[in-house]
Amino acid sequence: MKASAIAHANIALVKYWGKRNKEVMLPQNGSISMTTNDFHAHTTVEFDPSLQEDILIVNDKEFPKGMEEYDDYVGKFLTVARQLSGKDLKAKIVSKNNFPTAAGLASSAAGFAALATAVNGALGMGLDQKGLSMLARRGSGSATRSIHGGFVEWLRGENEDGSDCFAQQIAPPEHWPEFRMITCITSTKAKKVKSRAGMSQTLKTSPMYKAWLETVNQNLETVRKGILEKNFSLVGSTAEENCIKMHATMLTTKPSIVYWNAGTIELIHAIHNWRDEGLEAYFTIDAGPQVKIICLEKDAEEIVRRVKEFPAIEDVRVVKPGPDARLTEEHLF
Ligand code: DP6
Repeated sequence: MKASAIAHANIALVKYWGKRNKEVMLPQNGSISMTTNDFHAHTTVEFDPSLQEDILIVNDKEFPKGMEEYDDYVGKFLTVARQLSGKDLKAKIVSKNNFPTAAGLASSAAGFAALATAVNGALGMGLDQKGLSMLARRGSGSATRSIHGGFVEWLRGENEDGSDCFAQQIAPPEHWPEFRMITCITSTKAKKVKSRAGMSQTLKTSPMYKAWLETVNQNLETVRKGILEKNFSLVGSTAEENCIKMHATMLTTKPSIVYWNAGTIELIHAIHNWRDEGLEAYFTIDAGPQVKIICLEKDAEEIVRRVKEFPAIEDVRVVKPGPDARLTEEHLF
């Protein structure tokens, strides 16, 4: 009853921001992302009848019962997995990320996609990718998308039980291998407002949220089409527009949520200027200060060179479309 899995973080081109059901983890809107080839979580889980309590260790740090990471995330997820599998056993979970946790780099997405894949293996649940994406969703919404590689859409669904709310691949990584995202780390500190709390407050208080919901389906359609046709300008410009709209709902939340720092703003201006000069780059930003620059392979080197000139940038990593979540024989304990 032990299994290990690796899953990669994804970066959304059309964002998920807001739930219509917190218990079953159903989003207000659909979303589209690219699963990366680099940032990943590697997780081992063992269900063990001799354990009295679950044990959770992430990046060498233990998160016992009573800590938010366990109570609001992994503990709840394990309750769902136990109900689904009918196996009421405690688990030991050890997980490692190869990127900074909780800094707007989708650590929960990679983490729960890896955990769902490992739990499915350890308990012999026999879930396919659709089932896995629904299980991962119960841990963290964005994890739904990290089950698949390449370009992925998380369908909003209509049903209140979540039975039509899962992820499906729009195109595999080989479809558009020239697509790049350049992750510019402007701060490695953990963010002040987690996505979960932030989106819930936005839903309750932002007067812009209605406009977000009214326009997001159009963005989904455009980005889906752009990916299938490999129309870079269409995908990049729509992703940037969608990102700005999401941040407009965050900024107009009460109290206001500002995820950007000075480095973030500096890069936004730079990208706009580069575009005016004919260097085609767009940005997207999640619930954190990091800027992900969307570009094509042919321009990536030049953009990295320019980004490195900014003293505010702590690290730069180039990612491209990456693989599905998968089981591995490499156990962490
Ligand atoms: C801004 O998936 O972290 O990255 O479902 O509450 O765990 P929970 O939230 P989470 O939110 C991600 C928000 C986002 C946009 C996105 O990835 O689509």
